[in-house]
Amino acid sequence: MKKIVIAIDGHSSSGKSTMAKDLAREIGYTYIDTGAMYRAVTLYCLRQGWFEGDTLREEALRAVIDDLEITFHFNPSTGRADTYLNGEDVEQEIRTMAVAEKVSLVAALGFVRKALVAKQQAMGKEKGVVMDGRDIGTVVFPDAELKLFVTASQEVRARRRMEELRAKGTPVSFEEVLENVRKRDYLDSTRTEGPLRQADDALVLDNSDMTLAEQKAWVLEQYHRVVDV
Ligand code: DC
Repeated sequence: MKKIVIAIDGHSSSGKSTMAKDLAREIGYTYIDTGAMYRAVTLYCLRQGWFEGDTLREEALRAVIDDLEITFHFNPSTGRADTYLNGEDVEQEIRTMAVAEKVSLVAALGFVRKALVAKQQAMGKEKGVVMDGRDIGTVVFPDAELKLFVTASQEVRARRRMEELRAKGTPVSFEEVLENVRKRDYLDSTRTEGPLRQADDALVLDNSDMTLAEQKAWVLEQYHRVVDV
């Protein structure tokens, strides 16, 4: 069967990573979480002490960005790929609030995007990948054979995020999370470098009122529509 590139973009907390991971497992493709790559660079900067409040020592990062090694390796105990930074498993650390608070500053830098986009293009060169992010169908793989844009209403995404946080033991109010979702949407879609934008040829999935099973069936159908020809 022919191998393709599947680009999945969309809003934060839209469930796109879950969808991308499930799809990759189902069809035997490699899943690449590009958000994890921006998070890994952010973690590196935090460890180096390059942040002072919201100000980053950009020149220090610029000098090393091409030498940072970010890779993914399968973890048999979770059944998923973990993110590695210079050979160290950082999967847990990149998901902390400390990283989440700073990552959008790092993701807005043109030289960071340029370096990570080049790595992502190299990872997808042989095809057979499901890549999720914000600019995959527009910048990283504008020729991807299948492009999906996943979204849900801000209220639905805020509720999902609130439930996730509460399950982890973080008490948050719905209003607080909704405000954060709105803020992230705004930052993601208004930055000048690689903003979140729907590719003209992307298929849009609004999963506000869909179950996970319905979503899974829909995405598999789109995949087969492209490869079974
Ligand atoms: O999907 P996520 O929450 O792990 O993404 C982390 C951050 O990285 C978020 O601020 C959006 C940004 N990002 C990006 O700018 N481009 C991508 N391709 C993926 C993520």
